[in-house]
Amino acid sequence: MVCPVLIAPSILAADFAHLAEEVLSAERGGADLLHLDIMDGHFVPNITIGPPVVASIRRITRLPLDVHLMIADPAMYVDDMVRAGANWISVHVEADVHLNRTIQHIRNQGVQAGVVLNPATPISSLEEILPDIDYVLLMSVNPGFGGQAFIPATLQKIRKLKEKITSNRYRARLEVDGGIDTGNIRQVLEAGADIIVTGSAVFRSGRNPADAVREMKGIANPRAMDQDAV
Ligand code: DX5
Ligand code: ZN
Repeated sequence: MVCPVLIAPSILAADFAHLAEEVLSAERGGADLLHLDIMDGHFVPNITIGPPVVASIRRITRLPLDVHLMIADPAMYVDDMVRAGANWISVHVEADVHLNRTIQHIRNQGVQAGVVLNPATPISSLEEILPDIDYVLLMSVNPGFGGQAFIPATLQKIRKLKEKITSNRYRARLEVDGGIDTGNIRQVLEAGADIIVTGSAVFRSGRNPADAVREMKGIANPRAMDQDAV
């Protein structure tokens, strides 16, 4: 069975003064995961939200919460994020010198564990951890801000990593994050992405988030949408 592609709207581009409405609209449009970008002003030059906001979001949606930690010393906040309701937690390889320990700790809480690579970080840095993780998050922009342009070299990186995962029969799913919209999503999928993170294209498209998500879901899983229509 071919697994369907998952769409994970990133609330970084949402109107934080109307966050519940924005999230519920994305959920109505068929979002599969809700991507939450956690930034600390150290690992990346921006500051966003922490556990209290994650806990508030947990109370208003049934979507699994996909927490992307862009923070120094990410292991320190794993338990807080689990308590706040995270279902997926990813940690940057560049931010954690004890990655194996952190990944085991995340998995021991019953949470999906992912590792994130910045655009300039090679796939080889995953070599020893790839068999142990539930997903890889490949950054297709430099982390810190929404609304940046997709870095084209990511396509080759996706292809290489997909081939490695498939040929070794690893379970890791491949998530791609940054600069993805209706204009380039097909290329990203053709390269081998399983999960698409998309912020600006959902929350700043000038349409309501539900319609934007629906369109992307339709592109990603055309046959599933046909069946829905029957
Ligand atoms: C960037 C974040 C992304 C970003 C995606 O640091 O990790 O999740 O919000 O937003 P767009 O789709 O606008 O690039
Ligand atoms: Zn992200």
